[in-house]
Amino acid sequence: MALRTLDLDAPPLLHILRSLCLLVLAASAAVSGRHHAPSPAHGTGQSMYLAPACRAHTASLADFGGVGDGTTSNTAAFRSAVDHLSQYSGEDGGGAMLYVPAGKWLTGPFNLTSHFTLFLHSDAVILASQDINEWPIIDPLPSYGRGRDKIGGRFASLIGGSNLTDVVITGNNGTIDGQGAMWWSKFHKNQLKYTRGYLIELMHSETIYISNLTLLNSPAWNIHPVYSSNIVVQGITILAPTNSPNTDGINPDSCSHVRIEDCYIVSGDDCVAIKSGWDEYGISYGMPSQHIVIRRLTCVSPTSAVIALGSEMSGGIQDVRAEDITAINTESAVRIKTAVGRGAYVKDVFVRGMTLTTMKRVFWMTGNYKSHPDDKYDPNAIPVVDNISYQDVVATGVYKEAARLEGIQGAPFRGICVANVTAELSKSRKYPWTCADVEGVSVNVSPAPCEPLQGTHNGACPFPTDTLPIDQVTVQQCAYDVPGGGN
Ligand SMILES: *[C@@H]1O[C@H](CO)[C@@H](O)[C@H](O)[C@H]1NC(C)=O
Ligand SMILES: *[C@@H]1O[C@H](CO)[C@@H](O)[C@H](O)[C@H]1NC(C)=O
Ligand SMILES: *[C@@H]1O[C@H](CO)[C@@H](O)[C@H](O)[C@H]1NC(C)=O
Ligand SMILES: *[C@@H]1O[C@H](CO)[C@@H](O)[C@H](O)[C@H]1NC(C)=O
Ligand SMILES: *[C@@H]1O[C@H](CO)[C@@H](O)[C@H](O)[C@H]1NC(C)=O
Ligand SMILES: *[C@@H]1O[C@H](CO)[C@@H](O)[C@H](O)[C@H]1NC(C)=O
Repeated sequence: MALRTLDLDAPPLLHILRSLCLLVLAASAAVSGRHHAPSPAHGTGQSMYLAPACRAHTASLADFGGVGDGTTSNTAAFRSAVDHLSQYSGEDGGGAMLYVPAGKWLTGPFNLTSHFTLFLHSDAVILASQDINEWPIIDPLPSYGRGRDKIGGRFASLIGGSNLTDVVITGNNGTIDGQGAMWWSKFHKNQLKYTRGYLIELMHSETIYISNLTLLNSPAWNIHPVYSSNIVVQGITILAPTNSPNTDGINPDSCSHVRIEDCYIVSGDDCVAIKSGWDEYGISYGMPSQHIVIRRLTCVSPTSAVIALGSEMSGGIQDVRAEDITAINTESAVRIKTAVGRGAYVKDVFVRGMTLTTMKRVFWMTGNYKSHPDDKYDPNAIPVVDNISYQDVVATGVYKEAARLEGIQGAPFRGICVANVTAELSKSRKYPWTCADVEGVSVNVSPAPCEPLQGTHNGACPFPTDTLPIDQVTVQQCAYDVPGGGN
């Protein structure tokens, strides 16, 4: 406690020096115990939040020289805070929480550690640095073989982490602002040498919980868990201009056991995009995305989908369950995007309960999505699309067509089931459904579906009745002493 009192008024440089000199002391002093009694002398109070795991230790970014004035770089403060707190990241360390107080905390990319919580006060804003030199260049993802924008490496993500266990990113709806305008403009002018960074990217990690935050203006994708499992994303607001390039909301990529719920997303690209690697790189990496639940998602994305499956799906996508979806002014609902060269499969996809207002088309499947990492893709790598169900859908203001379903010649998309759907077109069309190379059944669909889907079906389309393990993850009340007092 003595150290904290000392630190509160210290100028930044002195503060850093002290933090370094007193690192050993800091280990016990700057970090308060979970059961530490609130200290009235400092006006410290206890606060609570919900997460699957609580932490034994808490420290504030301000204890590591952080300055929340919106102009001072806090890159070193974030990195030294996580370094310091990583001493608690072992099995018996009890874990640690880094508290980001009210203020505007400008920073370049930093990584998290295991058994760790990044907590944002309701008036905390983590602001992404506009200084390109602050953004390290990292290797491309092995399942992509290159960056998504550019061949070669890519800029690190603002908040990163690799090979971690048990990571929580939460707060009282504090904000992470990617300040993406600079990146979008450079991207449009082709002035970037590397692929843009994401807001949050966790790789090779398990047990991830991201909740109660607002994410603004990411340079590109917002939340990108990759090669990871056991992931919950809950109560997240994501906002970006609807014309901003590739500002996808939540992109599970070669991930298993994922739950996305109660999210509100306005973006320039797909609100949720499930992926698993690109052509020959994704095929050889061979890691699917599977066992994914999405519920109570609201999406606004005029040029993209509520939920996209692909287009990078070369590790396979299987067992996706989406329910209670609302979309306003979004191009299409659940879109499957693939191509010859992708290989693998998209199968066992179940969607029920969608209310859609103003859209280009309700259903959209594309078997010739042209975009390849290079010209080395295998022309015999034909993706399989099978067992896809959509039911209980009400769409109004459909301005183009009810559906465009285009499979692959000689490899039709099979097992499509559509039930209890009304698509109200804003203008009547002679052919409201356009279909090629697809096979399936339908019941109670208006306007009447295309001939290949006119096989009849009894009652509802399939929807799994079992509960996935990720739905059994529960949260607990975590109490912490507000570092530095106040709340
Ligand atoms: C974050 O982790 C990535 C992947 O392990 C690594 O390439 C990068 O250098 C790390 N960044 C920092 C700032 O330590
Ligand atoms: C992270 O995990 C991956 C996959 O298990 C492994 O290939 C890689 O070597 C690990 N990286 C580190 C730094 O341990
Ligand atoms: C989320 O943040 C809001 C705003 O501070 C707070 O009122 C609410 O309790 C938080 N919700 C959870 C589940 O922690
Ligand atoms: C979080 O903040 C956003 C943006 O201000 C707001 O739209 C949303 O309702 C808030 N969420 C919670 C849980 O308070
Ligand atoms: C579709 O998926 C369901 C649920 O996993 C399964 O029971 C059913 O057998 C699958 N149907 C086909 C044709 O693969
Ligand atoms: C048809 O869908 C509507 C709207 O989602 C729903 O209220 C209704 O219960 C569904 N009907 C049947 C028979 O499932």
